[in-house]
Amino acid sequence: MIARDGTCTSLWQAITEPYIPANKADGDITYDVVLIGGGITGISTAWLLQQAGKNCLVIEARNIGFGTTGGTTAHLNTLLDTPYADISKNFGEDSAKLVARAAREAIELVKKNSKDLSIDCGFKDMPAFVFAQTQEQANDLDDIYLASAKAGLQLTYTNRIPVPIPFKRALIVRNQASFNPMPYVYALATAFEKAGGTILQDTRVTGVEEDEILTVTTSSSSFRARAVVFATHIPIGINLLHLRCAPYRSYAMAVRLMNKKDYPKGLIYDSEDPYHYYRSQEINGVTYLIAGGYDHRTADEENTENRFLQLEAYLRRYYNIKEIKYTWSSQYFEPADGLPYIGSLPGHTGNIFTATGFGGNGMVYSSVAAIILKSMITGEPDPYKGLFNPNRIKPVAGFVNFIKHNSHVAFEILSKIVPAAKMTAFVEMAPGEGKVAKYDGQTIAIHKDEHGNLHALHPECTHMKCTIAWNTAENSWDCPCHGARFDINGEVLTGPAANNLQTIHLD
Ligand code: FES
Repeated sequence: MIARDGTCTSLWQAITEPYIPANKADGDITYDVVLIGGGITGISTAWLLQQAGKNCLVIEARNIGFGTTGGTTAHLNTLLDTPYADISKNFGEDSAKLVARAAREAIELVKKNSKDLSIDCGFKDMPAFVFAQTQEQANDLDDIYLASAKAGLQLTYTNRIPVPIPFKRALIVRNQASFNPMPYVYALATAFEKAGGTILQDTRVTGVEEDEILTVTTSSSSFRARAVVFATHIPIGINLLHLRCAPYRSYAMAVRLMNKKDYPKGLIYDSEDPYHYYRSQEINGVTYLIAGGYDHRTADEENTENRFLQLEAYLRRYYNIKEIKYTWSSQYFEPADGLPYIGSLPGHTGNIFTATGFGGNGMVYSSVAAIILKSMITGEPDPYKGLFNPNRIKPVAGFVNFIKHNSHVAFEILSKIVPAAKMTAFVEMAPGEGKVAKYDGQTIAIHKDEHGNLHALHPECTHMKCTIAWNTAENSWDCPCHGARFDINGEVLTGPAANNLQTIHLD
């Protein structure tokens, strides 16, 4: 089983062995492209670039699939989270058509890679269904129908949906798909290495020094590159994108049903806010219903375990469940204007690229990013005419000075040793609990593990100093501002923080 960024186990993670890279990174050469992040975005982009003749190095802080790639529910859909009506309103009808085309081409790319490399990832063409349960939702669905049809999606109204949930109105969208993301990413990684590319795992990038040739510094050594791609979900450092992407967490469950005929065929979404989503997946002869929902802003929910209980109760209302096999949560970044940010990183030289703000459509936008970044880095025109350009963001007044100031702030070192016996505020904590509280004029983040041991940390996030909050479901400290996450010992699980939280020693 591979590691992931939390203590819950996802369906994909449980059936995946660690990836063993074939090639060794070379600190003496200049790579054409260094890609930071070994998720589906980094690996898909690296594979396209290596095929196009670029010599690439992928650097991953932990292991391939450690982040959201290992925690997705793997829907491949052109019916995206941001309704086409909103895209039309904000960007124009032609742009809505272009977004639909990009999503279509992304699914075709996954299909082509799966076929060309004979990947056993269960890629399946299937329809998607979206349904409304109230009159208000039905009115919204009519808008979705009109705008999506105008954007070029093949969809019609239907009076049957493959879930046993009452509904007022529903749409069926053709030509969507599902797959198992981990064999797909592993096969791309293997093909990438066979083509001469290199993957370096367990190495955290700490910064990029800009000059004619870029220097990527890591926890162990440094590498030179002509171009750098941040495929890290959100770039490290301090950037305008941190103000334009909001971190969210979503909750998923893979369950086995009593009746085989109840497994739905298709991708299904209701119209709640946040919506529930469903699909089936067969792995090694066993079929699962994968369902998700109950999303919230990262660090905004005190009792994250409650979200699993809500999801379970919801599923039990409609299904006869034999076994809940896996429960897990994962993180995504919601863009401010509804479209992802793919292209040159704002405020930097043109050879640093980013791909972020995918919302709940990471499996599709990761391939859109691969197509765009491969074009840009090889000097071809952007096939989507700059629609996803991160530089569409208007700079915020004073932001440059703000960065200059904050990037030089040295975090105060807490040399203080706190006598544990005096920490009365924490005595009542249950094992597994975590909280931020004041002790002796100082704020401390403290977690009691299942053996009753206390783990104390400085509660200021090392990215931009927001105060972290405890995530009970995943046993992690999560930052509400830009989504950085840390384990119980303060080690970074998720960027944009590049440095661990500071430990406080308890006497
Ligand atoms: Fe930015 Fe924590 S992630 S302050």
